[in-house]
Amino acid sequence: MMRAHWGTRLGFILAAAGSAIGLGNIWKFPYITGENGGGLFVLIYLGCVAVVGLPIMIAEILIGRAAQSSPVSAYKRLSGEDSPWQALGWLGVVCAFVILSYYSVVAGWSLNYIILSLVDTTHGKTPDQIGGIFDTLYKSGSANLLWHFVFLSLTVGIVYGGVQRGIEKACRVLMPMLFVMVGALVVYCLIETPSGFAKAFGFILEPDREKLTPRGVLEALGHSFFTLSLGMGAMLTYGSYMSKEDDITRSSLWIVGLDTLISMLACFMIFPFVLGHGQVPAQGPGLVFKTLPIIFSTLPAGLLVSLVFFVLLALAALTSAISLLEVSTSYFIDEHEWERPKAVLVTGVITLVLGVPSALAGGGGMLPEWEAMFGMNFFDTFDYLASNWLLTFGGFATAIYAGWFLPDRLRREEFASGSRFGKLYPVWLWTLRVSPVAILVVLLYKVGLLKV
Ligand code: PFF
Repeated sequence: MMRAHWGTRLGFILAAAGSAIGLGNIWKFPYITGENGGGLFVLIYLGCVAVVGLPIMIAEILIGRAAQSSPVSAYKRLSGEDSPWQALGWLGVVCAFVILSYYSVVAGWSLNYIILSLVDTTHGKTPDQIGGIFDTLYKSGSANLLWHFVFLSLTVGIVYGGVQRGIEKACRVLMPMLFVMVGALVVYCLIETPSGFAKAFGFILEPDREKLTPRGVLEALGHSFFTLSLGMGAMLTYGSYMSKEDDITRSSLWIVGLDTLISMLACFMIFPFVLGHGQVPAQGPGLVFKTLPIIFSTLPAGLLVSLVFFVLLALAALTSAISLLEVSTSYFIDEHEWERPKAVLVTGVITLVLGVPSALAGGGGMLPEWEAMFGMNFFDTFDYLASNWLLTFGGFATAIYAGWFLPDRLRREEFASGSRFGKLYPVWLWTLRVSPVAILVVLLYKVGLLKV
């Protein structure tokens, strides 16, 4: 079977940026920035993205394009049928199932809030009552299951269409919509609450040394993997549909640049509301689903703002979810020679089932023994496991593989093919080889072998 390819260069950039830009940018980045005191945390995060994220992004896309296949087959093709590196491909497939199973539950909340914005459930309610809407949703197993199913069905529908007619086509429509909505919300913020905007500027850009802890530094690095969709083969899979004439470095710069821009803009559209309306930014995961609806309910045209915001969140999640589903789908297509429809449906059903415990987590959980053993519910366990461990380890191993084990000639040729940045090869390779050291420090700290 001929391997599918992206129709255009822009199509690839939009699809990959769509994978990177997701809940991580709009839901997670603002609240971890809030928790870590803004300023210096943002600066360190930007450093991690540039020094660790970018070289690994180039490496993942390069491995995919060189092998022209999805993660497991890619390592076999490049390093031999029996190569232990194929375990890294397996890790990617497992990660894709795990992340998508709970990601879809959070994305489902944003679908629920789209409906709530349409029917105006906040009218005449106190802030506590509005915040309580989220608590009710979180605890409602049936609502969570329903939205999980709806969101996953949308994802399956797009991936079913294939690389060009499904993923690329959807991203070409959805990504420009997403950029326009982010721009509109930032402008609205600037007009509606100029004082909040000024405060947000100070909060986001002023380095405040005291508020940043070593934990914050580690969180910045971990998040840079999650937000750039690195460490689990998503960029590798998208890279495998890329043509040899395309410029990997230039595309990676675009993807990383767009992802960072949207994270920053997300802060500039959330913190002005929060700081301008007397709320505090360090509110954790509830920032977007509890605090913002309270603020929206007091704004002029608040329902419209709320609608735009939650549509934006859902679109961002959808373009990321399709890349997660594509990783597992392409595994079955490449390794087991399944037709795409069968592969998409089977992976969709597995993810649906795997997500059930996460969807039911808020209502006390369906597995109390699990909670007793791990001290957190299923949903939190999956998020913690994936974003703190699996992706970080995946990124570490990918950097080592690409930096030390890929044959130099192939690596050099692939880096230069179609690229105007061929001369930067030594700089890229050097950074790629150094990046595992930074990641190792994080991992050692996490397992308690390093104290800071
Ligand atoms: N990058 C996505 C986000 O920031 O929400 C999350 C993600 C998508 C992680 C795809 C990994 C992945 F393969």
